[in-house]
Amino acid sequence: MGGSWIVKLPSARFAGVPENEYSMMELARRVGIDVPSIHLIDVKEIENLPAGIGEMQGQAFAIKRFDRLKDGNPVHIEDFAQVFDVYPKDKYNKASAANIAHVIGAESDEKDISEFIRRLVFNTLIGNADMHLKNWSLIYPDKRNATLSPAYDFVSTIPYLKEDKVALNFSRTKRFDEFTFDELKHLAAKALIPEKVVLDTAIETVALFHEHWQKEKTNLPLYSNVIEAIDKHINKVPISSKT
Ligand SMILES: Nc1ncnc2c1ncn2[C@@H]1O[C@H](COP(=O)(O)OP(=O)(O)O)[C@@H](O)[C@H]1O
Ligand SMILES: [Mg+2]
Repeated sequence: MGGSWIVKLPSARFAGVPENEYSMMELARRVGIDVPSIHLIDVKEIENLPAGIGEMQGQAFAIKRFDRLKDGNPVHIEDFAQVFDVYPKDKYNKASAANIAHVIGAESDEKDISEFIRRLVFNTLIGNADMHLKNWSLIYPDKRNATLSPAYDFVSTIPYLKEDKVALNFSRTKRFDEFTFDELKHLAAKALIPEKVVLDTAIETVALFHEHWQKEKTNLPLYSNVIEAIDKHINKVPISSKT
C-alpha cells in the first residue's frame, strides 16, 4: 500500500534472480538506458512482509517507482497490453516490437525511438526472453503527452529457461538467431520510423554493450551461470558481431 519503492523478492525456483535483475539494470544504465534508482537489500531487513510467503533469505531487488511524484501523487502510466487493448494472457502473441515502435513513433519523438531500440537490442543481447507487452509502458508526465516510461524488469532469463525465442516478434521473427540488421530494417519500415535512427542506435548499443559487459561482468553481483550463459548467447545473436 502506497510507498515509493517496489520490492521484488527472491525466486523460490531459481537462485540469484534479484542479483541478475540488479546487474542487468546497472549494465543498461551504463549503455545509456533510462533506469530508475535501484538497490539490492537483505530480505531480513524488509519489515511487514505478508504472512505465508515462507522462509526467505538472500537479497531482494528494490526499484524506485516512476509512477509517483515526490509528494506521493500518482503519475499515469499505461503498459502496452493496455495500449493495444489486449488481455494479460495474450501479452506474448497479439503484437510485435514493430507495433510498439509504431506507437512510440506516432505519439512521441526521435529520442524515444532511439531509447526503444536501445532497450530492444540490449534485452536481446542479454538473453531476456520475457519482454512481453506488459514490460513496456508509456508514461504521461503532463497528463496528456505520452513518452516511453523508464526501464523495468530487465532479467537475463536464458540461464534458467533455455529459450531460443524472445517474447514478441521483432517484426517477422522471434528468434534470437534471426535478429539481424535486415530484421531491424523491416521493423523500421513496418513501424514507419526512420531506418537510419534505428540502425545507428542499434550499432551504437551493440558496441556499448560489449564494452561495458567485458568491463563489468566480473564486478557486478552475478552468479557464474549467468555470465557463462550470456557469453555463450551473444555469439548466437547476428547483430552482436557486426559493429
Ligand atoms: N519502477 C517502477 N515504477 C512503476 N511501476 C513499475 C516499476 N517497476 C515495475 N512496475 C510495474 O510493476 C509491474 C511488475 O513489475 P515487473 O518488474 O515487471 O515484475 P515481474 O517480474 O513480476 O513482471 C510492471 O509490469 C509495471 O507495471
Ligand atoms: Mg514484468
